[in-house]
Amino acid sequence: MGRKAREIVERAGVNVNQLIEMLKKAYADEWIAFYYYSLLAKLAKGIGSTEIAEQIKKIANDELEHQSELADRIIQLGGEPPRKFEDLVKIANCPYVKVPENTGDLKAVVKAIIEAEGCAIEAYDKILKWLKEVGPDPITFHVIRHILQEEVEHEDLFETILGE
Ligand SMILES: [Fe+2]
Ligand SMILES: [Fe+2]
Repeated sequence: MGRKAREIVERAGVNVNQLIEMLKKAYADEWIAFYYYSLLAKLAKGIGSTEIAEQIKKIANDELEHQSELADRIIQLGGEPPRKFEDLVKIANCPYVKVPENTGDLKAVVKAIIEAEGCAIEAYDKILKWLKEVGPDPITFHVIRHILQEEVEHEDLFETILGE
């Protein structure tokens, strides 16, 4: 853990323990999104599904990067990501979006992804707003802002694919 790193955030007025809890919840969301998208990429079937699966795999890799970035920040602040995998499901912000019954229904698959991204966008927006209120922590702010930007890009990509 970065002792000084934590100290400067505390001095700025941020409740670091509360911040760590928020980051852990986001970390859980990212692992779940990674699993969900990886599964959808495998299950998507029908005409055009291979192209969509490629796009889904790409965003799954982004989510995997996000969890890593969040884990780094949690540790820098003196926290630790959950040691038990099952805890991720318990603490996640975003409910696990149901896998569409028929994964040959690519519209339903794409809509499920848009729904999941929407939840992530809300969750990250909340963290940014909270940080703006409680005090400056430019490093966490930068990490979250960067992730939020990618979630917005994911949503936009799948909205474009949906074409509605
Ligand atoms: Fe993400
Ligand atoms: Fe995403």
